[in-house]
Amino acid sequence: HQADTNRTDLMTITRFVLNEQSKYPESRGDFTILLNTIVLGCKFVCSAVGKAGLAKLIGLAGETNVQGEEQKKLDVLSNEVFVKALISSGRTSVLVSEEVGEAIFVPQSHRGKYIVVFDPLDGSSNIDCGVSIGTIFGIYMIKNEAKVSLEDAMQPGNQMLAAGYCMYGSSCTFVLSTGNGVNGFTLDPSLGEFILTHPNIKIPRKGNIYSVNEGNAKNWDEPTTKYVQKCKFPQDGSPPKSLRYIGSMVADIHRTLLYGGIFMYPADIKSPHGKLRILYEVFPMSYLMEQAGGQAFTGKRRALDLVPRELHERSPIFLGSYDDIEQIKELYASSK
Ligand code: AHG
Ligand code: MN
Ligand code: MN
Ligand code: MN
Repeated sequence: HQADTNRTDLMTITRFVLNEQSKYPESRGDFTILLNTIVLGCKFVCSAVGKAGLAKLIGLAGETNVQGEEQKKLDVLSNEVFVKALISSGRTSVLVSEEVGEAIFVPQSHRGKYIVVFDPLDGSSNIDCGVSIGTIFGIYMIKNEAKVSLEDAMQPGNQMLAAGYCMYGSSCTFVLSTGNGVNGFTLDPSLGEFILTHPNIKIPRKGNIYSVNEGNAKNWDEPTTKYVQKCKFPQDGSPPKSLRYIGSMVADIHRTLLYGGIFMYPADIKSPHGKLRILYEVFPMSYLMEQAGGQAFTGKRRALDLVPRELHERSPIFLGSYDDIEQIKELYASSK
């Protein structure tokens, strides 16, 4: 009987968020409307990714973004869908996208109290070969509705209200935190609804997997080099760790959240600030990791305490199981 009750008691993401928001008496449903807008964008991208190969959506768009990356057709398409949907929701005032050089200030007529920072398509290098990719987002509250400025878009991660990602893999999985833990939802294509499938995700306290692009090993600093060496040649008699690196942050983080372990994009001689962008990759994933009982460290400080000075500023990042990050912190502390 219990199974039947669950089967007919559909916990959709909308119902879940409404439950969460009912804890805030002043809430007028704005956040739920905003979240539904992001969910709509993800459903669109999920559908586009699924038929990319058939609908000639593979390959380059012929433009280059502010990162100096050649934009893929899906990068541009997903960015446009999210920007238009978020503006028309009437719940945002400033948008920051990986694919747009400047912050987008929403027209006065459509302004709301939220800021959304997002990576519309994460893992673009994996599009053409059909490997999992995703969308990453973070949500802030504007500081002063009367006077919206660039400051609103560059708040430290510790001001973030909510964050999440959608992974377009063998299934379409939406992972979200609004500050009370992390929950995962899977798209049921027959309903077009995200259903709660991973309630209250907690990352294992320590893991047996390390995730890093070993191709950059020549350029790593000493603490990173020492840590990876310990993973491969443990001194304490424990078995070596497994290396798993997909190259889409969303997929590597999703595996790390569920299985435990550590994900690293360290600084190296070529990129002293690492590669991942603070606002829409480092902050949202760090927020989720902490909400799931893990940690997020830049090599110098807690990642969420960073204050970005540039819109697309990058930072080295170490994310994952609490104990694994403690080891990295010790190595960086003793290297000072
Ligand atoms: P994006 O496709 O949004 O530009 O992000 C790509 C990022 C991230 O998804 C991944 O972790 C990292 O690039 C992989 O970088 P390398 O290919 O240098 O390992
Ligand atoms: Mn990119
Ligand atoms: Mn990305
Ligand atoms: Mn991207």
